[in-house]
Amino acid sequence: MTTKCPANLLLGVATSDYQIEGAWDEDGKGESNWDRWSHTAGHVKNGDTGDTACDHYHRYPDDIAIMRQLGLEAYRFGISWSRVFPEGGGRLNEKGLAFYERLVDALLEADIIPFPTLYHWTNPQALEEKGGWQNREMVERFAEYCSTVTHRLGDRVKSWLILNEPWVVMYQGYNEGLFPPGIKDPLTAIRVGHNLNLAQGLASKAIRSQRSDLKLGSAFDMAGVYPATQSEEDRKAAERMEGFKNYWFLDPILLGRYPKVFPIDVQSLVGTIDWKEVQANLDFIGINLYSRLVVAHDASVPWINVRTIEPKNTERTDSGWEIYPEAMRQVVLRTSVRYKLPIFITETGCACNDKPNKKGEVVDQKRVDFLRRYLREVALATNQGADIRGCFVWSLLDNFEWLEGYSLRFGLTYVDYTTQKRIIKESGRWFANLIRTRLL
Ligand code: FCB
Repeated sequence: MTTKCPANLLLGVATSDYQIEGAWDEDGKGESNWDRWSHTAGHVKNGDTGDTACDHYHRYPDDIAIMRQLGLEAYRFGISWSRVFPEGGGRLNEKGLAFYERLVDALLEADIIPFPTLYHWTNPQALEEKGGWQNREMVERFAEYCSTVTHRLGDRVKSWLILNEPWVVMYQGYNEGLFPPGIKDPLTAIRVGHNLNLAQGLASKAIRSQRSDLKLGSAFDMAGVYPATQSEEDRKAAERMEGFKNYWFLDPILLGRYPKVFPIDVQSLVGTIDWKEVQANLDFIGINLYSRLVVAHDASVPWINVRTIEPKNTERTDSGWEIYPEAMRQVVLRTSVRYKLPIFITETGCACNDKPNKKGEVVDQKRVDFLRRYLREVALATNQGADIRGCFVWSLLDNFEWLEGYSLRFGLTYVDYTTQKRIIKESGRWFANLIRTRLL
């Protein structure tokens, strides 16, 4: 059985600055929080760093040639704040910004729509040392950085993502302490979450004050949330988890409130909230969707009273994430009904570590199956009324997968990290064929 993929759905791939660029200290780039984090022993598997990564900083013309070969219509990539403002603010590093100008010009030349992300988790270390997102100064420098970059590139780039996965920044960075700056304090995390909301609000206003024709959104990490049982308690727990995981960074900017998740009022945790600063319009919502959460009520978990349950006997990718295509449709439809805005799937994808066979081919059938099943759900959600404008597969290349270093491969293209040779995988050929035929 084949499904028709909507003809006007923009199809592309996603990457981020730190995960592929390398050149970590070239052309005046300042140190970033992730440079410092990966350079500190014990943080990343095998001591891997993004110092060289896929060397995309130097090899971007070859990578654009691959994109062209695949027939990609759009390319989502990250802009490194510390390339542009090495100290976070003040002095602009022209050479850093020039890299993104070259990249954008080459994409346009190849007829590929550039879709940059202004914050894919990397910020200048200089600001991290002043408290990072705990400090309002970071929020203000961020708005300045965003308006500077969009002002310079906005003549050529019309769609922009402000933040990538703010929930992960808040939770992993300030509650679990697994990401920089390695803080483990729930109250700090909630306050940081609020500053990230403020950052979206202030940045979008700063960008629009310079250029009113740009389309703005952010990429939010969402998950299908399912109750462990049909009991009233578990269903309520699922609602709370959905509010926290999926709407924590959307309700404030779009609706001027936090979702009701905790018995405590968020305002009492973060201090005075000036909703005029936080609230703004977005033109679209970016959804990063890989899997689902199954949850149960548990009064012993502070504040939210929800426990996550690992389902047994389910299909999983090599990262251990459950494969659950239906979550895509659930999340897209609910987000669409709640906010009535156009949606881009800004990431979906599958870790599977297939290597080249004797013929030098990479036959990653599991990824092909994953993408086909997830994209079918995108097509179904469109049929059921969601306004989905595009879909970006994570990722163009195998790359630096944060705490997992180079041990997980998400690419449609295989990367040999010793030689930097690229090989388009079976999934890459499948995606190219989908773009041409629109048959899923
Ligand atoms: C997402 C991140 C992205 C990548 C994928 C696998 O959470 O946004 O950078 O690591 O997961």
